[in-house]
Amino acid sequence: MSGSFEELRRHFEEDLTRASSLDDVKRVRDKWLARDNGIITGEMKRLRDLPKEERPAFGQGMNQLRAQVESRIEELRAALQAAEDLRGRKRSDLTRPGYPFALGTLHPIRQLQEEIEAIFVSLGFTVFDLPEVETDYYNFEALNMPRLHPARDAQDTFYFDDNLLLRTHCSTVQVHAMESMKPPIRAVNIGKAYRRDAFDATHSPMFNQVDVLVVDAGITMGDLKGTLEIFLKRVFQQDIRMRLRPGYFPFVEPGAEVDISCIFCSGSGCRICKQSGWIEILGAGMVHPKVLRISGVDDARYSGFAWGMGIDRVAILKYGVDDIRLFFENDLRFLNQF
Ligand code: PHE
Repeated sequence: MSGSFEELRRHFEEDLTRASSLDDVKRVRDKWLARDNGIITGEMKRLRDLPKEERPAFGQGMNQLRAQVESRIEELRAALQAAEDLRGRKRSDLTRPGYPFALGTLHPIRQLQEEIEAIFVSLGFTVFDLPEVETDYYNFEALNMPRLHPARDAQDTFYFDDNLLLRTHCSTVQVHAMESMKPPIRAVNIGKAYRRDAFDATHSPMFNQVDVLVVDAGITMGDLKGTLEIFLKRVFQQDIRMRLRPGYFPFVEPGAEVDISCIFCSGSGCRICKQSGWIEILGAGMVHPKVLRISGVDDARYSGFAWGMGIDRVAILKYGVDDIRLFFENDLRFLNQF
């Protein structure tokens, strides 16, 4: 009897091995388990013809076999079903809406730098891309700030060695431009500058500047004022009045601090301009003859003007931001507004 169970089991396993689809599995199930003509059902019917004493063992054996057949079939069915589900899921539904893709934008300071650059390019300026790691010569010495000059104090910076430092201003464009171009020179340098300042609402050890240099025969303070006026009106996109106060920078003579009429109250006085109606915005002046000479420009024939301005400061005014640190903290809630 046990031999015949074994034979049935082997026969069933052979059928199962050949089943490779859900339809195949259904056919195997019908062949073995169908109520009317399944093989197991047919075998069970033989129970009646057996001598009484053999019936219990036969019944038990057949029940065991049926349970096995059922569970093996279910096992294979589940595996094939899972494989089919997986194939189904991989198929893309091309009609589904796409995932939204978050595009970044340029940092507000970078946007402003590009705006400023475009203004100068439209005025015929050459844009210099100068190193942030600079030599003492281009940052200080050639700009009439020899070693131990007290003006260096206001621009303490980060040194790599005796000679190499992080530039303290973008005025490095002056000597570089005069060394590489012949007058007429219209040059601009836009980028980062560094000073040993602690972070607060209006200071950062790393900040951005735009520096301008114009050298030609007969350049006067009037050219400086006129160019500045055009530039400021275009940056702030409003009518800006300005005033020049005497100011000292070793590399210009005469030198000036430039104030603009407050862009928030148009000069009538508010909290931002501390009721004065004016906001200090940049340093400027006529290029010092010593700086012309050291750069190889004949100071008897040529003169020039220069100015330097903090871009972060312009951004603060233009966008009404009250803390410079917001520009450097990369908080997306802030940056997303630009
Ligand atoms: N380099 C000066 C500063 O950073 C600004 C300046 C530039 C002044 C050019 C005069 C002429 O403060």
